[in-house]
This record gives sequence, C-alpha cells and structure tokens, in this order.
Amino acid sequence: MTGTDPHAEALAQLAWLVELGATEAIGEQPVNRFEEADAAKVADRQQKPVAPPAAPVAKSVTSPDRAPLDEAVEVARRLAAGAGDLAALRAAIDAFEGCELKKGARNLVFADGNPAARLMIIGEAPGRDEDREGFPFVGRAGKLLDRMLAAIGLSRKAEEAENAVYIANVLPWRPPQNRDPTPDEIAMMLPFLARHVALANPDLIVPMGNIACQAVLGRRGITRLRGQWTQAFDRPALPMFHPAYLLRSPARKREAWADLLEIQSRLKGLN
Ligand code: URA
Repeated sequence: MTGTDPHAEALAQLAWLVELGATEAIGEQPVNRFEEADAAKVADRQQKPVAPPAAPVAKSVTSPDRAPLDEAVEVARRLAAGAGDLAALRAAIDAFEGCELKKGARNLVFADGNPAARLMIIGEAPGRDEDREGFPFVGRAGKLLDRMLAAIGLSRKAEEAENAVYIANVLPWRPPQNRDPTPDEIAMMLPFLARHVALANPDLIVPMGNIACQAVLGRRGITRLRGQWTQAFDRPALPMFHPAYLLRSPARKREAWADLLEIQSRLKGLN
C-alpha cells in the first residue's frame, strides 16, 4: 500500500475499528472510549491478582562472574563498530559467538521493511514463526502490527521512505520457549542494535513493549511510558504497547490507536 490512496487508508482504518471491537457503523451519541478504558482499568486492578515484581534487570552488575559478559559486550562493540553498512552489520552479528541463543536458533532474524524508512520499530525477539522464516513480526502479533501500520498509511513493503517502516528486534535469535531475554543477552546484543539504528538512521523510533523499552531506554513500565515522547539513540522515540500484548488485552488498542495517530502527526510534521 502506498499510503496516498484515500480508499485504501479508509479501508485500513475500518479494519482497525473492527479490531477495536466496533460492530455498528453509527451511534446516536458520541462515546468516550477512553473513559470506558479507565473504568476497565479500575475493575482490572480489583479483579486481577497482583503480578509478581519484575525480575531485577541488572543481575549481571552484581554477578561475581561478569568477565565473560564484559568480554562478549566488548567483542560485540568491536564487531558492530566495524560494520559500515547494514549488510556488514548482519554479517557481524552472524559471526558473533558470544550469545548462546544463536546455537538454538534456526535463523538469524535481522530486520524487515525499508531501511530508508523514517520510522523504525524495535520489537523484543523472534518467536517461533520469525525463527522459522528469518524475518521479524511475521506471526499473529506481526499481522496485527501490519494492520496497525496500514491504518496510518504505513507499510513495511512501501518503497517510498515516507510511507515505509523498518523493523528490527532487540535480539536477533529466538529465546527458547519464547522466554524473556535475559539482561545479559540484552547487554551483549545492544551494541549491534545501537549500530543498527545508526546505520538505518530513522527519524523516529518506536520501542514496542517492556523488553524493548528496557533495552533502548533503560526503563520498564510500558503502561506509563507509552504515548510519551522521549529520546533513544539520540532521536525521538515513542514507546507503544507490544502487539502481542494488544492481542491479549484488546481494551488497550484504544491507547495504541492514540499512539499511532501521534506517530502519524509527527511524521507529517517532518514533511
Ligand atoms: N515479537 C517481537 O517482539 N518480535 C518479533 O519479531 C515477533 C514477535
């Protein structure tokens, strides 16, 4: 999709509204969906058991056996710094032996989309489908992500930079059983991600979900972070909910829609 076809954009928006749960085209009264979301949040808090506190994210800092990690990070930094373009960066990651995940993965999942895009999305790590196909966000969450992007006229297939998206993950290899990446895995792959961003040079970054926020912002708490502009890798960044979370918590799609409109407006401002 090119993003300039108003019919295609209207259809994408309609698909998004259906995603939100819309079943009727017309209502008698305007409905404030955000109010409903607040009410749902209160109900949620009352009904759900309190989640256990997040795992400490800086385990390696106090670990007595830091040397192998420090060494891996140093090797990653050297390899990343030596990569002069994206193809070289991909080869450098492929050559990196410091991360055990590589041994269990079928494919290196480097990126998808148009590297000339003004928007770069950073996800967490490949899942089963991505590991099998070698591209990020190709499973259910990826399909939802594509619909979300289409609703604001963006596509990973677009050839023109202004309608394009570039997508990568914090980790390029699938963690076993889709477990969360460990702080050490994030630390040793971060130099590659930083170089990836520098080489693609997007105008805006969208870290999706807590793991991506932890990696690129050093902070978690996506519910508070989402929708708030911040800086990552020396450029504006807007954290958003991860599409896999949106599949589990459809009520949060309203906030995701607000974030998408914010991105669309910021991109328009760059024209
Ligand atoms: N979730 C992610 O964060 N990245 C993918 O590539 C797929 C699912």
